[in-house]
Amino acid sequence: MNDRSVLITGCSSGIGERVALGLKERGWRVFATARQAVDVARLQAGGLESLPLDLRDSASIRSAVDSVLERTGGCLDALFNNAGYGQPGAVEDISRVALREQFETNVFGVQELTSRVIPVMRQQGAGRILYNSSVLGLVAFPYRGAYVASKFALEGLADTLRLELAGTGIHVCLIEPGPILSRFRDNAHAAYGRHVDAATSLHRAQYEAMEARLLKRGPAAPFTQPPEAVLQRVIHALESPRPQARYPVTFPTYLFAALRRLLPTRALDAILRRAGGEGRR
Ligand SMILES: NC(=O)c1ccc[n+]([C@@H]2O[C@H](COP(=O)([O-])OP(=O)(O)OC[C@H]3O[C@@H](n4cnc5c(N)ncnc54)[C@H](OP(=O)(O)O)[C@@H]3O)[C@@H](O)[C@H]2O)c1
Repeated sequence: MNDRSVLITGCSSGIGERVALGLKERGWRVFATARQAVDVARLQAGGLESLPLDLRDSASIRSAVDSVLERTGGCLDALFNNAGYGQPGAVEDISRVALREQFETNVFGVQELTSRVIPVMRQQGAGRILYNSSVLGLVAFPYRGAYVASKFALEGLADTLRLELAGTGIHVCLIEPGPILSRFRDNAHAAYGRHVDAATSLHRAQYEAMEARLLKRGPAAPFTQPPEAVLQRVIHALESPRPQARYPVTFPTYLFAALRRLLPTRALDAILRRAGGEGRR
């Protein structure tokens, strides 16, 4: 196992950091990437091989992949597309700029990185590509439209890629977490501040409650799990001889995946509005 290598995005905190450390403990050679120099330095100080990678920047993606391949002699066994953030806000309040930013990181950068890695894996005749999607890649919650759209897009790309790579030895897996304790809400709050003008919005009342949820310390939703729960599913996706196409994480993902199949849209909508706190959570 010592030789197996994995590149992970978004290792400055949360799921990425936990998965990077967990895989290193299991003997993987981990390339833990982060977009800020200070985080790269901290990860290196913690014993990880770390390098900069910002998904908004094609040059940064290219340079990170080149640098990894240089260090491994041209091989890479796995890619964990973890990095991402949530842009909160009612769909009608989300500007083109905000939506574009959401997709630059959560979709376009992810796929550009993936497409850079696929030829290496084709050459090897083996590889694992993991996408960190979300329960919100399966169902919509109110006031999270930009994020939901980005995760639905990721699901579409991953499902298509899996069909196209069948028989190549490259496996494509979707990790679908529900609520996980991380810096996700802090970062969502920052994105909200950058792009949503609550004062002039019809959704002002919902935003006040939403802000309180984003700023709450500790778990804000029922069934929240630590990043360790994702690590366990990532280990299976990377190490099992027969990885699953989808890895639901946390009870809400199992629940909503089932309800989406069973219920007509009207009934599902009523549940999703309530689960999303009618925008008040
Ligand atoms: N937490 C949850 O409840 C939850 C649920 C379902 C899915 N997810 C998914 O899990 C993934 C990890 O999130 P998390 O919960 O661990 O949240 P987090 O603690 O906020 O971590 C997000 C990571 O993504 C990085 N990132 C953001 N924009 C980036 C960019 N342009 N280029 C490279 N890296 C970038 C962040 O770096 P900076 O520190 O530099 O911002 C950070 O390292 C995300 O894709 C998220 O959508 C999370």
